[in-house]
Amino acid sequence: MDKVHNINIKNKTVILRCDFNVPIENGQILDDSKIVKSLKTIDYLQDSNCKIILMSHLGRVKKEEDIIKHTLKPVADYLSKIYKEKFSFIDNCRSSELTLKAKNLNPKDILLLENTRHQDFPEKLESGNNKELAEYWASLGDVFCLDAFGSAHRAHASTAGIAKFIPSCIGFLIEEELENLKLLTHNPEHPFTVIMGGAKVDDKIALMRSLLPMCDYLLVTGGIANTFLKVLGFNVGSSLASNDSIILNEVKSLLLEYKNKIILPIDVIVTNNYDKFYIRTSSVNNLDVNDIIYDVGVKTLEKFALAINKSKIIFVNGTCGLYEDVRFSNGTKECFKLLANSGAKIIVGGGDSVSAVKKFGYQNKFHYLSSGGGATLDYIVDGKLDALVELERGMEIETLDV
Ligand code: 3PG
Repeated sequence: MDKVHNINIKNKTVILRCDFNVPIENGQILDDSKIVKSLKTIDYLQDSNCKIILMSHLGRVKKEEDIIKHTLKPVADYLSKIYKEKFSFIDNCRSSELTLKAKNLNPKDILLLENTRHQDFPEKLESGNNKELAEYWASLGDVFCLDAFGSAHRAHASTAGIAKFIPSCIGFLIEEELENLKLLTHNPEHPFTVIMGGAKVDDKIALMRSLLPMCDYLLVTGGIANTFLKVLGFNVGSSLASNDSIILNEVKSLLLEYKNKIILPIDVIVTNNYDKFYIRTSSVNNLDVNDIIYDVGVKTLEKFALAINKSKIIFVNGTCGLYEDVRFSNGTKECFKLLANSGAKIIVGGGDSVSAVKKFGYQNKFHYLSSGGGATLDYIVDGKLDALVELERGMEIETLDV
């Protein structure tokens, strides 16, 4: 795979696909880690006298309202403070105005396009890797540089499609990620533990199936644990849990096959539908129909500690609870404390998990913070990422003799 620093990039127009999918609330960026990690490649391209066209997705665009909701304007404001008059933003990602702007860029200029997923409504052109769209984007530059590690498991028009039309390479961020994740992909030390949390079980179930044979323990926490508890016959009340029979059956089969590896919460912190100030700790076999689970309890943490303290390497994707709310942050915070004191190498992946690590001040206590969540999990499973596979196929770049 060609790298941005060993190809002939000088004076070229480079399309740089970053992952600026950062948490934003009321126009404010809550965690800038992914942007900060992207600056090295942007700076390198500027130093190489390139004209830079920046692209990224933000959120998922499924309805018309999502177009206004998911704008990269806050990211543009952030970058313009760094790159001043060299930086500009265009409020669309496909237009004759954009084509003209791209043509008129001067060396070191940076042009950020609006969210590439605006092309997902009404038709899924970006996510569907539409050839015409990819060809249009490719026509804006000479070289494509993929640096969006967090999206590299998706072969979309802006992550993979463009590589079919112009020479491609990877940026510094992806290079660093691949190097650091070797710890997990090249014979990880054992016991190897994965901690999986977060909200959506549907996204993660196939990954769990692939990870379970590789790891020694899988600690399931956060919203996804509810579905596991439900399958085991516990009443999870009004908590978020899957109703999809395919998912429920798959969870059942995982629980049967890997009952010694899968570790689940035994007590939880709940509130209910009727009184937002109501909060209590409950054992998982004593939940009420109106209860909503938002965090794990101390007994669960003690159970998790047994596996954590035995482990040599631990990959964390997802949080134990709704850590943004102080009433439900204890599980996530205490779990980080256990990890930091365990002596194991801790690798954390995923926007939410990394934000939580920073919020509770553990950023310097862990071995590596990856900018990818789903991407890291996919990569651990088979050492491949769909966009990188496409990039490798599409590359026809002149390599410098170094
Ligand atoms: C992420 O934040 O994990 C990446 O940006 C990927 O986002 P996606 O799951 O919406 O593709």
